[in-house]
Amino acid sequence: MCGIVGAIAKQNVVPVLLEGLLRLEYRGYDSAGLVVSDGKLLRLRTTGRVAELGKLSTDRHAKGLVGIAHTRWATHGEPSKRNAHPHFSGESSKVAVVHNGIIENHESMRLRLESEGFVFLSDTDTEVIAHLIAFHLQNKPDLLDAVCTSIAELQGAYAIAVMQESHPDRFIVARNGAPLLLGVGEEGNYAASDASALLQVTKQMIYLEEGDVAELSSDGYRIFNCTDGKIDKEVVRKVHQSALTNEAIDLGPYAHFMQKEIFEQPSAVANTLEMVFNAQSISPNLFGDAAESIFSQIDSILILACGTSYHAGSVARYWLETVAGLPCNVEIASEYRYRDPIANPNTLVVGISQSGETADTLAALKYAKSLGHRHSLSICNVAESALIRQTDLCFLTRAGPEIGVASTKAFTTQLASLLLLTITLAKMRSKLSHDRECEMIAALRHLPVALQLALQVEPQVKVWAKRFAAKRHALFLGRGVHYPIAMEGALKLKEISYIHAEAYAAGELKHGPLALVDSDMPIVAIAPNDVLLGKLKSNLQEVNARGGELYVFADADSQIQQSNNVHIIRLAEHAGVLSPILHTIPLQLLAYHVSLQKGTDVDKPRNLAKAVTVE
Ligand code: G6P
Repeated sequence: MCGIVGAIAKQNVVPVLLEGLLRLEYRGYDSAGLVVSDGKLLRLRTTGRVAELGKLSTDRHAKGLVGIAHTRWATHGEPSKRNAHPHFSGESSKVAVVHNGIIENHESMRLRLESEGFVFLSDTDTEVIAHLIAFHLQNKPDLLDAVCTSIAELQGAYAIAVMQESHPDRFIVARNGAPLLLGVGEEGNYAASDASALLQVTKQMIYLEEGDVAELSSDGYRIFNCTDGKIDKEVVRKVHQSALTNEAIDLGPYAHFMQKEIFEQPSAVANTLEMVFNAQSISPNLFGDAAESIFSQIDSILILACGTSYHAGSVARYWLETVAGLPCNVEIASEYRYRDPIANPNTLVVGISQSGETADTLAALKYAKSLGHRHSLSICNVAESALIRQTDLCFLTRAGPEIGVASTKAFTTQLASLLLLTITLAKMRSKLSHDRECEMIAALRHLPVALQLALQVEPQVKVWAKRFAAKRHALFLGRGVHYPIAMEGALKLKEISYIHAEAYAAGELKHGPLALVDSDMPIVAIAPNDVLLGKLKSNLQEVNARGGELYVFADADSQIQQSNNVHIIRLAEHAGVLSPILHTIPLQLLAYHVSLQKGTDVDKPRNLAKAVTVE
């Protein structure tokens, strides 16, 4: 989703802005732009990639000591140069604005500003902000004051950066509901949507809080609280030393971030589980100091998440019910937030999110609290994210930065974390003997090695990928705890190869999707050697009898035979409770290699964004 970079320094900031935008490319975008001041504002915009913006900058000799830049993921108005940010307003005192988020009252604001004589040149909600600031500058000549007054009139979510032609000695940023942080450097000061954009210049980061407005100059920064359109007081925010490294966000020897992230899974899971590897038992404190007390009060679980994180929650439901004996609901956050669910104050609400910035997940959690839910836990990959700040308890998946839009290592580390949660709750509810707990810890210890073995099926998967590349549709089947894994496999394939893929609980096949089965429809089945294998085999027979072509991911010991239309890849071993984690790997590899075959943009699939910070 949109990315913002702002910089003010003692030397030309154009290279910093461009490098910052490159680092934010993974978030997803369809146009890019920047403005720098060299006495006058120079604006460059393109519907091409950041590299194209770089070329434009060279051709136009763009330079300046202050600038703001943006990658736009279209919401209001098509992707076009005219709609790309920055947006301008004002003649005598020109302002430039970049924005991430959605201004919900943009229509009424537009009418009001048009009646004041402002002329709109784009279809965006962002242009409203530029004109509104220019409007207030007529009476409040100070940009900081004008920004504070303007944001009080905006409804919706935003992170903005604003600069003014007549005052190239500073720029202003503000956040409310969309991510934004400051970077404090030796040679200047910076702002960006996430830390990866600023590692090139500093590791000192300040995570702005909701409602913060900051003024940045080359010598310093000041952060303010605004109330009712006026600066209330200056506030102090902690400076964090970012633990991110450039290596973590570099491709290294890999061709794509998705490939890198698939192959990083053994170490990502090992990092996530590090604190339990040497333990003989698992302590609730892993989830926060208050976890023991909170966990002892709860009688059910409600999981809220989107996309791949929702699939992780859907796997966890089976674990929580079977191992911990806890009733569990899993809800798509964007649906939950608009329903009238009945709250149970003894439910633990669990928000799962890689980014911790997904607007629907944040809003659903807030809504759950407003309904009377008292206890919340986040499972998240970003330590300083909004999600973590919103919940009583948290568990960090230590997957490292995930850049590919299609989530991979975040998913498997979420699963590992949810299994830890299951074991903890099962123990506290006396559902798990010490011996069984030790067995599960031993299985978790073995998980990185098991993942490494699972990755070895890649050459066989590549052969299948060649056949899939020519297909237009695919069905994915699974049963029980592997049904959400089938959903995740289908999501991966459609996200990056654009092949229409649907997942079904295998028992549902005969209630509709069987009508789609013919020799042209590949059917992927997840067939671990578990108690449901017999049932699944009957479902596969139904496909086979109708001429369908089956691609089965089985375990080494699954009694299932290869035949004319039944192709089998076997994982090295059956992993018991960990099986869904391991069965994810070949599905990720399949999507990756089909995408390579088709030549689609693996890491930045069309129309998609990594962190969905708008509704
Ligand atoms: C976007 C991403 C998905 C991700 C989903 C939820 O759609 O492209 O990969 O699963 O958001 O994101 P979250 O950061 O909340 O896990």
